[in-house]
Amino acid sequence: MTLPVHTAEATPTHPQPRATPARAHVLSAETVEQYRRAVAAGTDRVARRVAEATGPFTGVRPDELAPQVEAIDLDRPLGDTTAALDELEDVYLRDAVWFHHPRYLAHLNCPVVIPALLGEAVLSAVNSSMDTWDQSAGGTLIERRLIEWTADRIGLGPAADGVFTSGGTQSNLHALLLAREEALAAATPADRRIMLPQLRIIASAAGHFSVQKAAKLLGLAPDAVVVVETGPDRRMRPGAVRHEIARCRRAGLTVMAVVATAGTTDFGTIDPLDEIAEVCATAGVWLHVDAAYGCGLLVSPTRRHLLDGIERADSVTVDYHKSFFQPVSSSALVVRDRRTLRHATWHADYLNPARMVAQRIPNQVDKSLQTTRRFDALKLWLTLRVMGPDAVGELFDEVCDRATQAWQLVAADPRFEVLTRSQLSTVVFRWRPTGPGRELADAANLRAREALAASGLAVVAGTRVDSRQYLKFTVLNPATTADDVAYVLDLIAEHAGRYVHEHAGTAAADLTCPVG
Ligand SMILES: Cc1ncc(COP(=O)(O)O)c(C=O)c1O
Repeated sequence: MTLPVHTAEATPTHPQPRATPARAHVLSAETVEQYRRAVAAGTDRVARRVAEATGPFTGVRPDELAPQVEAIDLDRPLGDTTAALDELEDVYLRDAVWFHHPRYLAHLNCPVVIPALLGEAVLSAVNSSMDTWDQSAGGTLIERRLIEWTADRIGLGPAADGVFTSGGTQSNLHALLLAREEALAAATPADRRIMLPQLRIIASAAGHFSVQKAAKLLGLAPDAVVVVETGPDRRMRPGAVRHEIARCRRAGLTVMAVVATAGTTDFGTIDPLDEIAEVCATAGVWLHVDAAYGCGLLVSPTRRHLLDGIERADSVTVDYHKSFFQPVSSSALVVRDRRTLRHATWHADYLNPARMVAQRIPNQVDKSLQTTRRFDALKLWLTLRVMGPDAVGELFDEVCDRATQAWQLVAADPRFEVLTRSQLSTVVFRWRPTGPGRELADAANLRAREALAASGLAVVAGTRVDSRQYLKFTVLNPATTADDVAYVLDLIAEHAGRYVHEHAGTAAADLTCPVG
């Protein structure tokens, strides 16, 4: 059968529709100039804000900003990029929290490298979706190369594989899904129902809360996560892990995974990976290493040894958007045995029919929890191609060095007490009143943190340790100097001292615990 050929001439009854104003906003061959101008205008606004920021924040309060956002009528467009950007200055850019500023010292947010921003601009415009080859083509191959590269850096061996995810939370969930399915691999459906409530995950008291969330999402029992207390060095003790595995087994429970952390969120400490791997290997338990924070060590010219033993893991979480200076989001789950990824596979005729496996069509959706998925890998690709891994590792080394300096500054300052020295780039400390009003120390630290953020001069984090309020620096900016740290310490001491001065002799105000 010969198919009819459709050309403009052959279909005179279907002339090209005239472009409507709405279509002028769609990226197409006709609108590329507008695209160039719009993106350049946006880039220019951000560049100006970055150049002019005098602090990491303006200290705006939600009740100040919310009315401005609320007042915008989303059904009445401005119709113009410049006007929309002017409006955006008021509701977002002016009061954004700027991670590039050297006195942003709070959470695990890094300043971002320019090649990755280039990648971000390219990937959102091309808009590949990483679920199937027919929606991404080269994007799939680039992501696969980066997973292979990461697995090699970890040392997982020739059967390794993995997939990019939205972040460490998803990577941890994914890892624990695989571990759960491996633990239940031989179970009948009836067995599964009996075994599911008996599954246990052993994790560190200093581990990330996404482990608990994952357990909940995976349908495990409310007490499924067995929390192992750390030693004073805030690292999980291999003996305690061994003990908990034995205890669970005696109680007829199945330990489906041990989660070790390479870079705890608060303390930046790294569990003794090799020894924990030994415990897991002896017990035949899946070892997941949450290296969301510590993954920067994979490219560190001087500190890679801190991850020794990670190569023995069954699965590893890597957050490039924490310590590879990548924009959110950019994370991966990497596994030792690619066959385990089958636990997240489902075939659908409209997307990834099973025959495509036989045809060796590389559909990343076969490994992912997501369907439509951003081509986040492009940011890391351009980073490696422009800067190279050593340059990224040098940046991470720099922030670790800076955090060591910060720790020394705090430790030498009688106004403060400091906890465990980080192996990465955090400092957990608290201001201590020396005179009267010592009972106000928790409130004073909490208020100092709030007052600092409200001033916009610096942003630090807070956490609770042993039921006491602490402050935390997370140093991820190589531009942060020892002078910045000293200045922020003075500000904290001033705010905390003022609070005690004003409240000594009165009951501490009712204080709620902040999100750390
Ligand atoms: C150790 C650790 N694991 C996992 C996560 C979660 O990562 P994400 O915020 O990318 O979901 C974090 C976040 O801070 C973390 O510190």
